[in-house]
Amino acid sequence: MAGLRLIHVGPNMTIKRQQMGPDEGRNQWESPEAKLENQIVLDATNMFDAPGPGTICQADVEALIPDIVKAHQMLKNNEGDICDHGIPMTGWRDLPVKLSESYLSEIMSVAGELTQKIDAYVSLGIGGSYLGIEATFKALTHTCFNQLTREERGGAPEIYFLGQNMDPDFFRDTLDMLRGKRIAVNVISKSGTTTETAVAFRIMRRLMEANWGAETDQLILATTDKNRGALKEMARKRGYRTFVVPDDIGGRFSVLSDVGLVGLAMANIDIREFAAGFRNMREIVWEKDFWRNPALVHAALRHAAWRAGKKIEVVATNAVPLYGVARWMEQLFPESEGHEGHGMWISPSLYSEKLHANGQMIQEGERNIMETFLLLQSHDNPMPIPKAHDNLDGLDFLVDRGMNMNSLNRMVIDGPAYAHHHGGVPNMTIEIPCRNAFNLGQLYYMMETSVAISGYLLGHNPFNQPGVEAYKQAMFALIEKPGYEEAAQDIKQNLKKRERIRI
Ligand code: PA5
Repeated sequence: MAGLRLIHVGPNMTIKRQQMGPDEGRNQWESPEAKLENQIVLDATNMFDAPGPGTICQADVEALIPDIVKAHQMLKNNEGDICDHGIPMTGWRDLPVKLSESYLSEIMSVAGELTQKIDAYVSLGIGGSYLGIEATFKALTHTCFNQLTREERGGAPEIYFLGQNMDPDFFRDTLDMLRGKRIAVNVISKSGTTTETAVAFRIMRRLMEANWGAETDQLILATTDKNRGALKEMARKRGYRTFVVPDDIGGRFSVLSDVGLVGLAMANIDIREFAAGFRNMREIVWEKDFWRNPALVHAALRHAAWRAGKKIEVVATNAVPLYGVARWMEQLFPESEGHEGHGMWISPSLYSEKLHANGQMIQEGERNIMETFLLLQSHDNPMPIPKAHDNLDGLDFLVDRGMNMNSLNRMVIDGPAYAHHHGGVPNMTIEIPCRNAFNLGQLYYMMETSVAISGYLLGHNPFNQPGVEAYKQAMFALIEKPGYEEAAQDIKQNLKKRERIRI
């Protein structure tokens, strides 16, 4: 039997985009036309007047405006509870206008040079040192990137992520994908002591040294604090090329810093366009008044819903490539808001897949849920639905009405938005015109600003994560890391006191 030929299917435009690569030299993103075409719109209609308990109305949001305007001013002035270890953690705020063209070019040239030497690039990191890079990579590239030819990837190496969990089978399986390939590793850790990342790095370094000896040092990049930490020290000793996680930017706000830029440049993603998206949204959220300011309205809507008893936010998208962005939000919001008994739990979802799992609960379960849709308006490719000679499934009418998979995929958001609102779930839609780096940058900056405002409204610092530190410390104690002997003893004593219930 001959293999499948793709008949009646056009060229894959995601591959075409990858092959075109970064849009060198043309500053099209600054043009008013490009900005208009790529306008991110927040549709708040369905947030208001949903029936049942915990409903909110426009007046609830209006009532928050004075506090939000004040919070916005404080953020602009670097005031309030915003420090971590004495440093105001608002470096992300002006980063889009501080990144120079020459700096971005330098990153692109380092990536270009490394790309020539390798078949696969492995990014090691967890949390903020991982989620934004993977989310952006997946949002902008082919969903089976590593299975494409190098030419189809636009010359980029294969891209892998490790260190984001401690699963040995996942690690081992990924190694199979790297077998026989020339690889480079970027170890990303601000603290330099995160166990998952450090263990992954140890294994990769050992493998690489066993293969390539001293040459390994040229194939390792270290992205960490500019002066301190175990990783910085190791990089100094071994002469690894280093990149910096800025002091004043926390992991979950760091995707536009070296943390994200290097990996994205390795995947041939246009980092200039990405930065332009951040810059554009910065201009909007810094200058526009409340009702024309998507970040402020977003913060207000979520805060009003939270006050009204909504404790779960389903963030659902109709685009497989944007699912990672919902996962990035799953970190950004709960890690920033989940302090002192506050915060909304974020459930990242892909619709319509998830509707066949939790759709019942959203429609009729406890009314503590709100929804945010990340609606991709225009997909890279059209997918026509053919007529069937027997029409046994009765779907020929779709074809007769000129519908394709794309038009149906919009309904998997519009349908739930309507039905869930009627079922008592307030929801908003963030319309993303298409998959490009500019729009991703805009979306990230909008969300970063929104969560910062949320911190002021909740009355706590959104830029630290003592709760995450608590788990790290407990884990160090449990594995009896030197220096944690006393904590290990405490944990053992406490565990002894508790009767185990094992059935
Ligand atoms: O947002 C954050 O600050 C955290 O999620 C960190 O990024 C995460 O814990 C990883 O830390 P590190 O970069 O120090 O390894």
